Amino acid sequence: MLSSIKTRIIAFYMAVLFVTLPALGVLLYATLDKIVYNAIDSGLLSKAKALATLIYEDKDETEFNFSDDIMWEYNSPKARTFFQIRRPDGNIIEKSESLGNVELLFQPGDRGTTFKTILLKGSPARLINFYIHNKVEKTENSPAKAGEAKKQGLDLLLQCAQDISLQTAMLRNYKIALFLSIFTVMAISAAGGFVIARRALEPVEKMSETVDKISEANLSERIDIENTPKELRVLASSFNTTFDRLAEAFKRQKQFTADASHELRTPLSVILSQSEITLRKERSGPEYKKALTAVMDAAQIMSAMVSKLLFLARLSAERITLDKEPVALNKIITEAAGLLAPVNNQNNTRINIAPLSSHLLVTGDKTALLQLYINIIDNAIKYGGTERVVDISVRKEDEFLVSEIKDHGIGMHSEELSKIFDRFYRVDKSRSRNSGGMGLGMSICQAIVRQHNGKIEIKSEIGTGTIVSIYLRSVKRTRIRT
Ligand SMILES: Nc1ncnc2c1ncn2[C@@H]1O[C@H](COP(=O)(O)OP(=O)(O)OP(=O)(O)O)[C@@H](O)[C@H]1O
Ligand SMILES: [Mg+2]
Repeated sequence: MLSSIKTRIIAFYMAVLFVTLPALGVLLYATLDKIVYNAIDSGLLSKAKALATLIYEDKDETEFNFSDDIMWEYNSPKARTFFQIRRPDGNIIEKSESLGNVELLFQPGDRGTTFKTILLKGSPARLINFYIHNKVEKTENSPAKAGEAKKQGLDLLLQCAQDISLQTAMLRNYKIALFLSIFTVMAISAAGGFVIARRALEPVEKMSETVDKISEANLSERIDIENTPKELRVLASSFNTTFDRLAEAFKRQKQFTADASHELRTPLSVILSQSEITLRKERSGPEYKKALTAVMDAAQIMSAMVSKLLFLARLSAERITLDKEPVALNKIITEAAGLLAPVNNQNNTRINIAPLSSHLLVTGDKTALLQLYINIIDNAIKYGGTERVVDISVRKEDEFLVSEIKDHGIGMHSEELSKIFDRFYRVDKSRSRNSGGMGLGMSICQAIVRQHNGKIEIKSEIGTGTIVSIYLRSVKRTRIRT
């Protein structure tokens, strides 16, 4: 159950409330209780002290100088204050009329000033036991004689009590009010917490609903960023970016399937039509040879395309393990140019390779790198226009060795540059078809360069030519394996 964020938030919130609010309630109640009892006790102590000043001992007799002014609060039958004076042995020698025939509780032994809560006439009352030590014997009231006052060691216990039923009722009501308030606050907060948790997670639920709606058939759905809370906008926008990429990938995939079928259909229809026409009637030897040659040419185109596609698919899926080692670029470039000699001869193109040091080393797979340079130089020859010159140079830039393959040919529009890495993309379909292009070379080049943690940059201008820059990571001071 706690796997839900909503439940977790509410559980945590409730746990905090259930601990803090009752603790606060107990603290508030204890504070008020203390204040009330302190006030009662200090009132009782003042009363006891005031009464003590009016008690005198004369030989064996004790005199009480209680005036009516003082006694009015003790003597009425309805009075809520009481007093009682005992000898240390417990004998009562005086008590207020308010006590009637009731006695205040006496516990011999404890001789300090003590306070107790007792039950008096069925009501709660607070009692002070106040000992009057060494009561001064009464003398003539002259100051000289007062100085000679004789201490007799006559102890008396003065007990004062006060009915506290009003205060205890007040405390009880306060306790109930506090309990009810805490309970109400807890209930409201719990409900509020539930609503807040639900509201807070609503946008997440909305997002997940939108995500659920996205499928292969409906890739256009997006999360509404405007109406998403600020905290979730980053998440929402990364979802949207991912969906954009997914949609783009799906689109490319569909395009690829359509293009591949289209490209394969042309040689296939050549094979079918050639075979069909040839088989309609008996043919002569040269006729069969001509038909078979056409079939073989078409099959060769198909075979080349399929192997290129397979190579590309394996490379993109990283199913080809590249055998990386230090490779000398001068060798690779010269070898690639050499392998392209037949095409080159047809086109009559001059390939100028700038003098290259044998120390220009990159880490890479020899065969893949050779394929990369063949594809780029092949394009430079094929689309080299009338000037028919290809310049190749290598320079060092930071950690890269940058090979520049420059032609002075037909060039491309800037908007074509990003598309030429798409499979089967050809700027001018009819033109490339004539030159035998399938639109796969640059996709293969990009996959190879990516596998080597490098990059390809293309600058091109219509009618002026194209410069392809291949960035490959250089190796320093390593011996070449030949
Ligand atoms: N140096 C260049 N100058 C002008 N256009 C170019 C150049 N290189 C590539 N292109 C354009 O980019 C397209 C894609 O190139 P890519 O090498 O992928 O395919 P291709 O050469 O047509 O066929 P493939 O290389 O598969 O035989 C080409 O068809 C061509 O239109
Ligand atoms: Mg090409």
